[in-house]
This record gives sequence, C-alpha cells and structure tokens, in this order.
Amino acid sequence: MNILVLGSGGREHAIAHKISQSTKLSSLFVAPGNAGTAEIAKNVPLGVNDFEEIKSFVLEEKIELVVVGPEDPLVNGIHDFFLQDEKIKHVSIIGPERAAATLEGSKEFAKEFMSRNGIPTAAYQSFTSESIDEGYRFLENLNPPYVLKADGLAAGKGVLILQDLEEAKKELQSMLVNAKFGSASNTVVIEEFLDGIELSCFVLTDGEHYKILPTAKDYKRIGEGDTGLNTGGMGAISPVPFADEAFMQKIEDSIVQPTVEGLKKDNLPYVGFIFIGLIKVGEDPKVIEYNVRMGDPETEVVIPRVKNDFVELLQATAQGRLDEIELEIDGRSATTVMAVSGGYPEAYEKGKTIRGIDKVENAIVFHAGTKSDNGKVVTNGGRVIAVTSFGSNYKEALQNSYQNMEKLHFEGMYYRRDLGFDL
Ligand code: AMP
Ligand code: GLY
Repeated sequence: MNILVLGSGGREHAIAHKISQSTKLSSLFVAPGNAGTAEIAKNVPLGVNDFEEIKSFVLEEKIELVVVGPEDPLVNGIHDFFLQDEKIKHVSIIGPERAAATLEGSKEFAKEFMSRNGIPTAAYQSFTSESIDEGYRFLENLNPPYVLKADGLAAGKGVLILQDLEEAKKELQSMLVNAKFGSASNTVVIEEFLDGIELSCFVLTDGEHYKILPTAKDYKRIGEGDTGLNTGGMGAISPVPFADEAFMQKIEDSIVQPTVEGLKKDNLPYVGFIFIGLIKVGEDPKVIEYNVRMGDPETEVVIPRVKNDFVELLQATAQGRLDEIELEIDGRSATTVMAVSGGYPEAYEKGKTIRGIDKVENAIVFHAGTKSDNGKVVTNGGRVIAVTSFGSNYKEALQNSYQNMEKLHFEGMYYRRDLGFDL
C-alpha cells in the first residue's frame, strides 16, 4: 500500500516510523516532512493545506491512504475535499470530516457537544462583543482563577488563566473588542477553573467502534517546575501512573463511549484519532478540550507503545473494522524529552548544526524542526528533536532519555530536566 503522511513534526516522524515497519507498506511519503522522515520515507515539498496539489500527487503516486497529522487541514475540510472528488474519493483518509473537526476548531461547539451528550466538563458560558456586559457580570459571579478561551484556533495561545477580576475583564475586552487573537476571539468561552492534574487520553475510531490507546501526560511550559510560557510541548510520559484501571474505566464510561455515541447521534462522521485533554478533579475525569488529531509530543510516546502492525490498524479504521482488531500495547513506560532552540517559544534562530544523533543508543530520535542541509542536519524550528526511551517505569525511561540527550548538541539547545517532577 502507498501511504502519504501530512505534516512535518515529531508527531509525523513517529507516525511514519511506525508505518515504515509494516509489511503492508509499499511506498511511504511525508509532506512536507523533516530530516528525520527523509531517512525512512520520501519527503514531498507540499503544504498540508494545498489540497489541489495534494490531489495531483495522490493520483500520480497512487496513494491509497492519507494520514493527516495536524489539525489545520482537517478543520479546513481535507477529508470532505477527497470525498467530494470522484477521482480521489476512494482514498482512505485518517482524520475526521470538517464538521467533526469543529470539535477542535471551535471551543463553543465542543462545549455544546459535551453538554448535549452529558460529558463531564467545566461549567461555561460564551460571549461575543454584543454580550460583553453579560460577560463582565458572569466573571463577577465566578471565583478566581478566571479561564478565558478564544473560541477558534489560536496556535495553542488562546487560553488565558487569570487571578485578578479586573485583569480578566480587561482581557475579555481585548479578546472580544480588540481582536487579541484575530477572528479566533470573536467568541470567548469563559469557564469554571478545574483544579487537578492533567492527562490525555487517545482514541482511535472508525465512527462506529473505538480503541483506547495509551494515556500520556505532556509538559507544556518552557520552564522547569511548569513555569514560564506555554510551548507546543517539552516532553511526555506514557502511561500516566495515576490513571489506574478504575480511573480508565471512568474515562471510558463517562467520556469515550458518550463521545463516540455523540458523534454518531449528531451526524458527525469521524474516522481518525481523538485526543481528549482531561483533568482529574478529585477522583473523576473532566474534559478540558478535544483535539481531532494526535498530540505532539504525546505521539512520540503513545505510538511506539502500540505493537500492532500500524498499517493494518489504520486500514481497519478506514474500513470500519476496528472491532476486528485486538490492540497490543507494550507494558513498559515510554518517555520523550524535547530539545528546543534557544529563545523558543519566543524568537529563535534556525540553521544550527545538530551533532551527536549517531551516538544515541537504546532510544529513538524523532525529528521535529529539522532539515537536511548539504549532508548535515540543521535546526529548522522551535521544537527541534525528541528522544524517546523505554523503561520498566517512567523514571527509568526518563533516565535513558536524558542520558541520550546529553549526546546531542546544537547551539542554543535547551531541554527540561525535570519531567515527571509532579507525579
Ligand atoms: P486548552 O487549549 O483548552 O487545552 O487549554 C490550555 C491549558 O489551559 C490546558 O492544558 C490547561 O492546563 C488549562 N486549562 C484549560 N481549561 C481549564 C480549566 N477549565 N480549568 C483549569 N485549567 C484549564
Ligand atoms: N502537546 C499538545 C498538543 O499536541 O496539542
């Protein structure tokens, strides 16, 4: 089978890596890819939102399966684009249609979906510039901290958590009236603050059946001790130690099952990964957000633990046969540590030579922001390279990731040395 993976991060390298091990694979392409994917697949210089060009390429190379890594093309309707075109509608797409992708594209839509389907989440109300005065009153009646969320996609920056009421009001105004996050903040969801520890649950669904993949916890802040600015993710651990069997059963019964049922009931066709961001409040899981894709760097610890032939798994998903698959999960813990460019998540430089990749042992190096430059691998983004290791528990796995991280070097390289500190 010929397969195309869309995207260029660590997530896509991890997906491509797993696909490359399948006996069912003929040719593997990644668009646009990075220096890591170039070693196991053919990189294709296509943008993930260039649907017409993707179509031409798919026809040219007789692609039968497309795995969509990031949310953007899904929210822009890439799955619908394929379905609506006679020439390519036979191609299997892993990733939901536009309507269902709105679960990530609009926080208000996601909240309405959860409340319709009885899925536990924070109490909320949404506001526009017309109802800003009601928004102020709503804030006055909440206890701090105040959680303000831009409704639309805001590159992971659209959530503000504020201690002070006056500041919260100012930010609400800046989002609704001054377009702080562009049109993404035309609507703002204000919600109850949930106090607890976060984890993520990953589900693969064919729209009818589902499989729950390993849980993971990522570390979003740039600084140790979870301080400083938010990033795309500085590392991850799987499984999450506190997500024991009883807790997982609660997640399945109160969240996963009603989510898949709700998608059917609401006529939201879904073939692909659902990434459910959760907070454990007391003993109970509550949903913070849905993403309609895998997480990055969570994929770098979740997918390596899946032992099934990955192409078989994706094919069964595309064909509505997930019930025929028995998931096999590696019982060991996996951790990934992300090395980033100096200055990230603010301004940083690119083009720094990365050394030491060949010295890594007993670990998998997943490239994120890298590219090949005259035979060298150089930095090409904020998050640069992730080192995934296994261990009998997360501490042992982390030790292995850190030992290997010490062998890597590029100018300005930074990584967090405290992953797992909160567990
Ligand atoms: P989101 O983009 O919805 O994942 O939100 C970004 C981050 O804000 C989450 O990972 C949480 O750490 C935090 N967050 C979002 N909603 C809440 C909430 N209702 N209570 C507490 N923290 C939240
Ligand atoms: N690591 C968080 C995300 O992929 O959204």
